[in-house]
Amino acid sequence: MASTDSGSSVSAPHRSGDLFHAGLAVALLLGVWSVGGLEVTTGKVSLIEAVNGSTVLLPCNYHSCIGIKNLFFKWTFRNNGSEQALCEGNIPAEKIEPTYSISHDRVTFVGSSTTSNISILLWNITFEDEGQYICFARNPKEKNRNHSAVLTLRVVDQMKEVDNTLTVLIVSVLGGVIGLVVIIMVIKALVVHFLLKDDEKNKECLVTSSGNDNTENGLSGAKADNKGTPKA
Ligand SMILES: *[C@@H]1O[C@H](CO)[C@@H](O)[C@H](O)[C@H]1NC(C)=O
Ligand SMILES: *[C@@H]1O[C@H](CO)[C@@H](O)[C@H](O)[C@H]1NC(C)=O
Ligand SMILES: *[C@@H]1O[C@H](CO)[C@@H](O)[C@H](O)[C@H]1NC(C)=O
Ligand SMILES: *[C@@H]1O[C@H](CO)[C@@H](O)[C@H](O)[C@H]1NC(C)=O
Ligand SMILES: *[C@@H]1O[C@H](CO)[C@@H](O)[C@H](O)[C@H]1NC(C)=O
Repeated sequence: MASTDSGSSVSAPHRSGDLFHAGLAVALLLGVWSVGGLEVTTGKVSLIEAVNGSTVLLPCNYHSCIGIKNLFFKWTFRNNGSEQALCEGNIPAEKIEPTYSISHDRVTFVGSSTTSNISILLWNITFEDEGQYICFARNPKEKNRNHSAVLTLRVVDQMKEVDNTLTVLIVSVLGGVIGLVVIIMVIKALVVHFLLKDDEKNKECLVTSSGNDNTENGLSGAKADNKGTPKA
């Protein structure tokens, strides 16, 4: 998956002097070699999230169709550009268990050559263990080409995270409900306000008009009628 193919472009031009043909050869060879050559993989995972204090498996497997001999492998931890060796070893031949050395007090090797497994365990992780873990392998049978796969470890504080998501959830749901209620109340208040205003206007209109009607129809109404007819 994440095997590097550097180095092939250096060796390929021997087969053809012409640069274009060399390029073609490289392209073809890359296809063939990636099938036949060594492959180092972390499986489907490239990011591991784990709770601080827990122990994580850093998986790595190798695969080679042309077989291995004195396969060299190495685990390194990369954080902020600095690299730290964790474990390195040698597998003399297929199915022969590796010899290895460990240079980190919380790392144990759990791989097995019967399953082409070169995984390690990192015990009791802390937040300082966050970073990239590189599984590197080199098979002398393949002109020492380098292969590596990278795993990223993220350390989380589970209790806090659960609390946070819960509170965030509760707050957002509550906030949403409250917001909705507020909006509904505001709309209701506005509607009521305008309806009342309209009612009041209508009432006022009715009152004034009826008042006018009354005055017109009343005693003063006769005066108004009297005043109105000369104008018209
Ligand atoms: C492989 O990696 C080693 C360091 O580990 C480096 O010295 C060497 O040049 C690399 N080889 C290729 C072909 O990239
Ligand atoms: C995780 O880290 C926090 C803060 O650093 C600490 O309080 C807590 O005890 C740790 N949890 C575990 C399981 O180590
Ligand atoms: C790595 O960098 C981050 C910030 O970029 C810093 O918080 C952290 O302490 C650094 N870790 C180490 C091991 O230098
Ligand atoms: C991990 O932590 C436990 C409990 O604190 C301790 O007993 C154990 O020795 C630790 N393991 C390593 C490899 O440091
Ligand atoms: C590699 O070995 C470890 C430890 O035995 C195991 O947990 C893991 O599942 C193995 N990985 C594969 C891909 O077989």
